[in-house]
Amino acid sequence: MNPILVALDVDTTAQALAAAHTVRGHVGGLKIGKQLFTSEGPTLVRELAARGDRVFLDLKYHDIPNTVAGAVRAATALGVWMVNVHASGGLKMMQAARQAAEQAAGHQGQRPLVIAVTVLTSLDEAALASVGVSRSVAEQVGALAAMAQDAGLDGVVASPHEIGVIRARCGATFQIVTPGIRSGPAIAGDDQARTLSAAEAMTAGATYLVIGRPILRASDPARAAEEIAASLLKAEG
Ligand code: C5P
Repeated sequence: MNPILVALDVDTTAQALAAAHTVRGHVGGLKIGKQLFTSEGPTLVRELAARGDRVFLDLKYHDIPNTVAGAVRAATALGVWMVNVHASGGLKMMQAARQAAEQAAGHQGQRPLVIAVTVLTSLDEAALASVGVSRSVAEQVGALAAMAQDAGLDGVVASPHEIGVIRARCGATFQIVTPGIRSGPAIAGDDQARTLSAAEAMTAGATYLVIGRPILRASDPARAAEEIAASLLKAEG
């Protein structure tokens, strides 16, 4: 499938539906995060999923296993294609998330992919140390990715620069969802540092690419998505 997942980082259902309409057919899926979900709620998710869009519900659940299991069951009932949790919630929490996705999907349904966030890219070594983690960021990312795999999760979210350590630790089939993708014209006020182009990230071993502003803020978003997809095909040879 097309590995591009568009981050619908907008405020309203109307904006989200318009953006989805524009890029549909040019991307592999749509990511809905805390901002849009908190303001517009599950109706939008249900609506997009019902019309056949792959929805990655990016709410990064982190709570006791029973509560996370309930949230994953609810997300599965909405029809989402992918959902995520924080790996730092621990092995049992991740196992509960995976089990809840399976049970809620039932025998007929396709369960959503369940992936984990390892270390937030906003945290550096000093920030990790301040919350009691003495390992380096790379060691912590590798350890949490391995724990997510042990728990039966399908993959992790990781910055382009963490792909290598995760591939080495978790093998070729573990899924890696990578934001921080940039190429083409500079974006005013961009907050992404240490980026890779889409083709570079796929070559490094990403499975899916989360891309927001380079597509949605382009003058022609459908064309921007198409060009990125074409750059991937070219890189594949
Ligand atoms: O607009 P841009 O391409 O930077 O959007 C990237 C998306 O990926 C945003 O929704 C952002 O919140 C998300 N993300 C990220 N870096 C992470 C985790 C998620 O940029 N480490």
